[in-house]
Amino acid sequence: YNLTVDASQSGRPIPPNLFGIFFEEINHAGAGGLWAELVANRGFEAGGQSTPSNIAPWSVIGDAASVQLSTERISLFALNPVALRVDVLCSKCPAGGVGVYNPGYWGMNIIAGSQYKVVCWALSLDDRNISISFTSSDGSRTLAQQYVSLEAASSSQTWNKLEILLNPSDTDHYGRLSITATQAGVFWLDQVSAMPLDTYKGHGFRNDLVLMLQDLKPRFLRFPGGCFVEGQWLRNAFRWRQSIGPWEERPGHFGDVWGYWTDDGLGFFEFFLLAEDLKATPIWVFNNGISHTDEVSSSVIQPFVQDVMNGIEFARGPANSTWGSIRASMGHPEPFSLEYVAIGNEDCGKQYYHDNYIKFYEAINDTYPDIGIISNCDGSYRRLDHPADMYDFHIYTSANRLFAMNHQFDSTLRSGPKAFVSEYAVTGKDAGKGSFYAALAEASFLIGIETNSDVVEMASYAPLFVNDNDRRWNPDAIVFDAWQSYGTPSYWVQTLFKNSSGSSLLPSIITGKDSASNILAASALRRFDDDNGLEFLDIKIVNFGKTDVLVTLQIFGLLANEINQEAAISRLMSENIMDENTFSQQQKVVPKMETLQGAGANMDMKIPALSFNVLECQLI
Ligand code: AHR
Repeated sequence: YNLTVDASQSGRPIPPNLFGIFFEEINHAGAGGLWAELVANRGFEAGGQSTPSNIAPWSVIGDAASVQLSTERISLFALNPVALRVDVLCSKCPAGGVGVYNPGYWGMNIIAGSQYKVVCWALSLDDRNISISFTSSDGSRTLAQQYVSLEAASSSQTWNKLEILLNPSDTDHYGRLSITATQAGVFWLDQVSAMPLDTYKGHGFRNDLVLMLQDLKPRFLRFPGGCFVEGQWLRNAFRWRQSIGPWEERPGHFGDVWGYWTDDGLGFFEFFLLAEDLKATPIWVFNNGISHTDEVSSSVIQPFVQDVMNGIEFARGPANSTWGSIRASMGHPEPFSLEYVAIGNEDCGKQYYHDNYIKFYEAINDTYPDIGIISNCDGSYRRLDHPADMYDFHIYTSANRLFAMNHQFDSTLRSGPKAFVSEYAVTGKDAGKGSFYAALAEASFLIGIETNSDVVEMASYAPLFVNDNDRRWNPDAIVFDAWQSYGTPSYWVQTLFKNSSGSSLLPSIITGKDSASNILAASALRRFDDDNGLEFLDIKIVNFGKTDVLVTLQIFGLLANEINQEAAISRLMSENIMDENTFSQQQKVVPKMETLQGAGANMDMKIPALSFNVLECQLI
């Protein structure tokens, strides 16, 4: 086979935001994941606002004769009326006390030497001490403990806000938070939070997971979903306005598509903060009055339109604007950047999509003409019947098909709105929980995105995260539990594309046997590395075939002495195509870097069967 690259020209600029990430609250990606809050169901609302309510995963410490738990609507916080009532019945209570514990999201990562801030609202009828502690997963070992005294309340409005720091002297990656008392009587608890002090930039994000995102150099952050935005029913869709302000006042909601409660600690504000921390352009996907089951007619969609306009003002309005002032009060007086919004998710073709879309489009475009607006309707094969700056394109399919979709955008309309491939992945039996095979096909697809980046503006894999204890969707890019995390092969493929955004695509062609395009995919780009001021020629080659191939690389337009003889090759391959990474083998399928001697304008390269290769040649 021959791979011919034309480096005689500077190449076609690749969009600066080509590769980014899509965060969806699915698989406990945020609640019990990226958001470092350790307490699950911190306001006791997850079981519903009618009492008696289900307080899971809170559980009782003590037997029925010594303690009784119940729920009452006496909270200080109007939107979160339910609080927990603890009736301590024992007069001679066990030494450790009786009360409640919260196991967090399948365990709390409690580390000796780290610090944790615990905030809790409490109300007691008598003067009493309560103990707040971290214990081991079975409650047998105390990792950290503090006693707090409560003064007898003069009324049911006299809540105490308790704020303490816990400094564990022992470690349990799957620990729990306990609140107990040894004195008979009644007290109430509400809005209980426990956060490690050490979060990313102190912004509440779990460090290890943000670092994994950083390693992708994401140029955009699409959020907060997906189906999560739509809801199975509109009443359960994500609502930006309910997810801002003090955490105690956020009502939380049940995301009925992925089937779990979120306290919405990771809310609208925090998504913008995350985008800012990652230097990624935020892309807000908002609900357009359409869920999986019900729809709001265009004749009454105006309040939804106004709500979105308010959301945009919250994000980028001045600090003295109505909604911008709330953002300012949350600690961010400067406007966030917001250059793109998507009107709905996968809703094209639904009864009111078109007419609702137009109403949102016109309102946003009139006030914020610089905001790029993304339609759910596929404009790759026909012109859209409505104005849009981009169209959304989602693809979940088999490995063979995604490999071949390397050519998906070759014959797309070259004018009109560009594609935003905001969700792609190999799924099903080829993918398992994240196979090497899936990743290889995705590499081919992404090469096709690079070569068609005149019509594809942005692309992101989905889903991004999975808490291993709640796999609602397989596969995913990053797997974690309470304390550990690893990338699937698909994640590692994305790291090999992290330098493409903003570089320049060079014309390249693979020729050889008839089957060349059935097994090989390749691209070439020229890139300037700002960090070290060096220029590189990057060549990517996927061999999807079962045999090694020899590829003769011919680079036109560069003299032999313009290419450093020493080049680097990053290669992703594995013994078995269905190999996956796991917690115990996190590095089973990761790119291996080799040094290649004798790089030049004309060279032979052996490309192993079933491999993805990135050759980086430094230009001199
Ligand atoms: O990525 C998982 C889901 O797939 C998204 O929520 C939805 O947009 C798509 O159907």
